[in-house]
Amino acid sequence: MFLKLENLKVHFPVSSGFLFKKELDVIKAVDGVDLEIQKGEILGLVGESGCGKSTLSRSIMQLIRSTGGKVFLDGEELSALSASEIRPRRVDFQMIFQDPYASLNPRMTIFSTLTEAIRTRHPGAQGNDLNQRIKELMLRVGLEPRYIRKYPHEFSGGQRQRIAIARALAPEPKLIIADEPVSALDVSIQSQILNLLKTLRQDLNLTMIFISHDLSVVRYISDRIAVMHEGKLVEIGEANHLFENPQHPYTRKLLAAVPRICLQPAS
Ligand SMILES: Nc1ncnc2c1ncn2[C@@H]1O[C@H](COP(=O)(O)OP(=O)(O)OP(=O)(O)O)[C@@H](O)[C@H]1O
Ligand SMILES: [Mg+2]
Repeated sequence: MFLKLENLKVHFPVSSGFLFKKELDVIKAVDGVDLEIQKGEILGLVGESGCGKSTLSRSIMQLIRSTGGKVFLDGEELSALSASEIRPRRVDFQMIFQDPYASLNPRMTIFSTLTEAIRTRHPGAQGNDLNQRIKELMLRVGLEPRYIRKYPHEFSGGQRQRIAIARALAPEPKLIIADEPVSALDVSIQSQILNLLKTLRQDLNLTMIFISHDLSVVRYISDRIAVMHEGKLVEIGEANHLFENPQHPYTRKLLAAVPRICLQPAS
């Protein structure tokens, strides 16, 4: 299995008091998650705000060390590695965030942004080879290479998200975690970006965890969907099957709140 989580837990101690801090309680942000994801799979992760989606992602990437349980990626147990052993593996994980404007450096051109990202994997990249890689990345995400010297503010929201996607692809990651990547975009732009991600998955065999509160978006992009509630996965299943046959009461409740919007592939 490409990515495997075994009984993963992240508990945050909650303390109070000014001088003498007392541990009052723990927040069980992730509380015993078992999950397997195949290479080339898009797993949708849904659940209400605060259920632990981002904490789960961060603990997979080892940005937060887990309180318990194991994380395996590509046959290696990440949760057993020391901080210094993890550092060089950071490039294996790339994130795409909700707000590309906040996540891109406003003072860096596309060229600099992508150069920096490529060099996290290939520190010596330069010259023609580097230029070629950057051009390929731009074409892959539907940006014209002639924009290479432009800054983020010179682009629309959808184009900025394309830059952020190119930056995520640049280090050739093993896993991409997209945390609400289309939530800040207009509906028409949303479907363009979703279709782009689908195409990229097909062409590059990307493995992705796609987090969204928008269930119609998650259904459209995901192979399987995992439903998270209070730190636990309460249900996981093939996307259409889960929508048509929700088993857990919490899943039913989530689905009942979905407005019926149909996303169509861009023509
Ligand atoms: N560093 C931290 N210290 C203490 N508590 C935390 C920390 N990070 C997250 N939490 C708590 O863990 C729980 C899960 O938070 P998390 O951000 O993972 O939720 P989420 O599902 O991503 O929510 P959202 O949909 O709003 O992004 C929340 O109760 C949150 O307050
Ligand atoms: Mg979150």
